[in-house]
Amino acid sequence: MSSEAAIRDALRSVIDPELRRSIVELDMVREIKLGANGVVDVTVSLTTAGCPIRGHFQTAVSEAVAALEGVSHVNVYFDVMDDAQKAALRQKLGRGSLPDGALAQVGAVTCIGSGKGGVGKSTLTANLAAALAAEGKSAGILDADVWGYSIPRMYGLGATRPDVSAARKIIPLEAHGVKVMSIGFFVEEDSAVVWRGPMLHKALTQFLQDVDWGAIDHLLIDLPPGTGDVSMTLAQLLPQAHFTIVTTPQPTAQKVARRSAEMARKLSLEISGVIENMSGFVTPAGERFQIFGEGGGQELADELDVPLLAKVPLTMPLREHADSGVPLVLENPDDPAAQAIRHAARGLIALTPSAPASLPVLPVQQVPAASPSPKPAGMSLPMA
Ligand SMILES: Nc1ncnc2c1ncn2[C@@H]1O[C@H](COP(=O)(O)OP(=O)(O)OP(=O)(O)O)[C@@H](O)[C@H]1O
Ligand SMILES: [Mg+2]
Repeated sequence: MSSEAAIRDALRSVIDPELRRSIVELDMVREIKLGANGVVDVTVSLTTAGCPIRGHFQTAVSEAVAALEGVSHVNVYFDVMDDAQKAALRQKLGRGSLPDGALAQVGAVTCIGSGKGGVGKSTLTANLAAALAAEGKSAGILDADVWGYSIPRMYGLGATRPDVSAARKIIPLEAHGVKVMSIGFFVEEDSAVVWRGPMLHKALTQFLQDVDWGAIDHLLIDLPPGTGDVSMTLAQLLPQAHFTIVTTPQPTAQKVARRSAEMARKLSLEISGVIENMSGFVTPAGERFQIFGEGGGQELADELDVPLLAKVPLTMPLREHADSGVPLVLENPDDPAAQAIRHAARGLIALTPSAPASLPVLPVQQVPAASPSPKPAGMSLPMA
């Protein structure tokens, strides 16, 4: 019968596909018990009970241990890490970060996400970053909506292509005191962008690793709608990022928003708060209309046990400024939407202390060199 040490050694071949390290290295092997007649019990600690890759662990652990001499049967059990164990895991991942990683001087990373599209993520991201700058914090925006990028337009940046520094880093463009990076800077305007699988992963990794973000207090990431590839990839790359969820006030939107919260929780990302957008409209005469209903933001925040950072009303200037390329919070700070966004920015500052923490960027599994053809037309990041 193999020893416990031999079994532990064999488990080094079981890799967590999200964190891309062995479960032994990640301290996820909680217990190994050698029973009678070659029966081995292995308990693996997961970050969340509903871990989507549980099945993967079940199979991989069974196979790795069953291959050892004298093992007749393998039972795989699971438990869930407590907060201290999760903190230890984060710490461990942090130490594995790139020592000279591009985000080493970035204080806090906050992903702005939503379950469904068109709820105002990009508008809020654009204005939140400007509001952070107005609060004296240095800020950057990574437009991670690689298919439907809109930050360049909202910041009046279009025609310019970022330079590459002598150190082969992409220098973000800067407007209204905010550093901005978007795939929109590298593609022909309105061209269809086809990003999938490894290419997408590589592009996002480049945006984090190969962009010279320098020393900034807050990096806001404008996510595409939903809980797809981009969000998953970023969560893998940035396990310590915070997540802020945008929802409209109506209950159906809130249900969809809950899905992105669930995804964030599954990936062990901390949810910092909820912003309710399109929260009523006040006519010039002062009459208030709850166009998209009422109360959804608060309900979601209560359910997730996080603060409601702001209720941002519908105002025409917010839309007009987004289209004209200057954030509303800078040009018309008295607008009720601008005030609500300033409030949200102060909340973000309080919730995501931007100590010069070293945010980990996990090493990304090398994608096998693509055959020459699949590079989508129009795609050429300077570093690609
Ligand atoms: N509070 C608001 N008042 C007025 N217009 C708004 C408000 N919030 C967003 N809009 C407008 O709604 C539209 C959608 O907003 P935006 O593009 O920011 O949403 P999104 O969630 O980023 O969408 P997508 O999911 O497509 O990325 C835009 O035209 C924007 O100007
Ligand atoms: Mg958007």
